[in-house]
Amino acid sequence: MEAIIRRIRELKKEKDVVILAHYYTDGQIQALADYVGDSYYLSKIATEVSQNTILFCGVSFMGESAKILNPKKTVIMPDSYADCPMAHMADTDKIKEIRETYEDVAVVCYINSTAEIKANSDVCVTSANAIKIVKALPNQNIYFIPDGNLGRYVANMVPEKNIIINDGFCHVHTSIKRKNIEKAKEVYPEALVLAHPECTWDVLEIADYIGSTSGIIEFATKSTSCSFIICTEMGVLYELEMKNPNKKFYSVGHRQFCPNMKRITAEKVLEQLETINHVVELKEELSKRANNALVRMLELASWR
Ligand code: 13P
Ligand code: SF4
Repeated sequence: MEAIIRRIRELKKEKDVVILAHYYTDGQIQALADYVGDSYYLSKIATEVSQNTILFCGVSFMGESAKILNPKKTVIMPDSYADCPMAHMADTDKIKEIRETYEDVAVVCYINSTAEIKANSDVCVTSANAIKIVKALPNQNIYFIPDGNLGRYVANMVPEKNIIINDGFCHVHTSIKRKNIEKAKEVYPEALVLAHPECTWDVLEIADYIGSTSGIIEFATKSTSCSFIICTEMGVLYELEMKNPNKKFYSVGHRQFCPNMKRITAEKVLEQLETINHVVELKEELSKRANNALVRMLELASWR
């Protein structure tokens, strides 16, 4: 493995490539990346890096977003089959129908969505900025796609708006069950429950903290508590344990890992640096329309 890592380092310098990785990738991938973060951080950093090529260790919507925001750069992915099923769980005909039904509606799409869905939306959000952006929008009616669980969470936090919820979901987060958290609490009564808003509402109800992957890491790191029940994908444990070697982190299920994120291996990263052949390509017109929703997110999220 050392030889692979050494070769990755040589090639990315030689070919002017920057490696971005999401917290759900394997620890080994996070260790070799130049930047690691949640979806919001990664989309922002993708607009700031100087390298001509971005190698994105994440699922398709992440590579697509980086390409949409940087049409002149080359964006490559280690595994072109690493896709997020939830990104496809919204329907453009339904968006049309909602736009016809509600005069004053903003279509808000979670960044976990295809370029086609983004192109038909008014603004993108991530779990780190969804509440802030929905509050900042002038519209009273919000059609929130694709994730129903994040949509319900936003509706709860922004009760002054009418949030129309879609029925998309993440199979990883919905596999985390309240009864298992309650059982874990019996064993570790001191542990705080930290949950991603893609979890179901009954899980969020008993969480001590709800936030994005970065939010969860920051909360646990700053907390004076020493043990935590982590209700999100297990990849975050790499950063949590690195930053907090004396704290304990527990998971509650065997399905708390994203099989698509785990398709990314160091061997595939190396192969991609050698071949540069999994290039993200999007039609120009589609990319321009999707870009509007992403740029609006970056603008609204940076407002103080
Ligand atoms: P974050 O935006 O919190 O990184 O989450 C991304 C994701 O895919 C959650 O399942
Ligand atoms: Fe998609 Fe869920 Fe994997 Fe996140 S954890 S990339 S939402 S399948």
